[in-house]
Amino acid sequence: MVELNEVLYNELLVELRVDKDFITEAAGAFRWDLEQGLKGTEFSSLQMLPSYIGLPEGNEKGKYLALDFGGTNVRAAIVELLGAGRYTTVRRVEKPLITDSYNLIDSHATREELFSFLAGIIEEVIDHDSQTEYFLGHTFSFGTEQHGINEARLIRWAKEFAVPGVEGEDVNRLLYAALSARGFGNVRPVAILNDTVAVLLATAYSYPDTCIGSIYATGHNTCYMEKMPDIGRPACILNMESGGFSKLVPTKWDLQLDSLSEKPGRQRLEKMVSGRYMGELFSRLVGELLGLENAPVLSAVDMSLLMADDSSAYQSLKGLPAEMSLEQYENLGALAKALAIRSARLVAATWAGTLWHLASNDKILPQHIAVDGSVYQHMPYVRENVMRALYELLGEEAGGLEPVLVKDGSGVGAAIAAAVACRDI
Ligand code: BGC
Repeated sequence: MVELNEVLYNELLVELRVDKDFITEAAGAFRWDLEQGLKGTEFSSLQMLPSYIGLPEGNEKGKYLALDFGGTNVRAAIVELLGAGRYTTVRRVEKPLITDSYNLIDSHATREELFSFLAGIIEEVIDHDSQTEYFLGHTFSFGTEQHGINEARLIRWAKEFAVPGVEGEDVNRLLYAALSARGFGNVRPVAILNDTVAVLLATAYSYPDTCIGSIYATGHNTCYMEKMPDIGRPACILNMESGGFSKLVPTKWDLQLDSLSEKPGRQRLEKMVSGRYMGELFSRLVGELLGLENAPVLSAVDMSLLMADDSSAYQSLKGLPAEMSLEQYENLGALAKALAIRSARLVAATWAGTLWHLASNDKILPQHIAVDGSVYQHMPYVRENVMRALYELLGEEAGGLEPVLVKDGSGVGAAIAAAVACRDI
């Protein structure tokens, strides 16, 4: 029978608890970083990247191509915007970036392979039509330095992507080169945007009071509509790259995970809250708790399974010792729950910090908050703990906030951005 180290288990449950004082400080520090970032001082860990796009009017119409790249799957779609906040997805193709036979995200993949793969998916969604002119919005879910709605250079990869030759490059240029090389120069990328921006556009299309867009999935990040950036730039949505927020006190386990990642020192908040890293942190902790020589490989989905209170599903978890007791599975479930709750409370703190910044005369206006992502959608305990933490931080004003889960916000947002860009062509 495998032993679970009870002393460590109890310690971990305490270490992972982030109480009201912790999140209050985190929210204040986040607001401070946001405002320092707006002023462009060196003290901020937020990047405040302009997107060159504002909120939609709701009357944008037409058929556009959307490409969504930046998670474990790539999606291309034809989206028809119908106006008045309505839209329909006409066609859609989705493919994974990693299978048993290829890996298009690690350092062995070439940028040509990657972009040709993306172009291939677009080709499929338009049914190999090389004649009609198509306008494409590209949701590219990494931090980019933008110089216009269609010009974005990748600052640096995140989420363990490591394909060489893309950092510093104009991403839509690479995409268009790949499309042209395959004979599909008729597809014109006209807009590029972060996934947080896409989700905000998609939600604001139906709910005009939405100012904040957040992704809570493989990766994590938040953007918001900055009406008055005190920085000599026109009003636009700012991508904060909030996954890089670094003013939280980490546990020694967070530090260890960071030091072994592709980019040590970067994306410190993301490594504490997102699905990609929560699964990894959980795996390491389970390895330690059970004294295993090799930590099991467990994902955020496995964590959800352990939290679900359905013991019949436990056996399907690969990588755990066969001879575990029911109580031990339950202990692992409680550890997963502690990680999920910590994640939800930290994300809520960053939203609260943003809401404090946006408050008008110190009053937080009732509004929708756009959220997309598998962790928010599927992980037990996350949604209610985000709300609970918002109430702790904002009191009654939290009652006016309505987080909306946007499904396929990336596709719809990309289509809206393409529509806005085409207005100016
Ligand atoms: C990227 C962000 C992105 C987030 C969610 C992070 O790793 O840096 O740009 O918005 O993941 O996909």
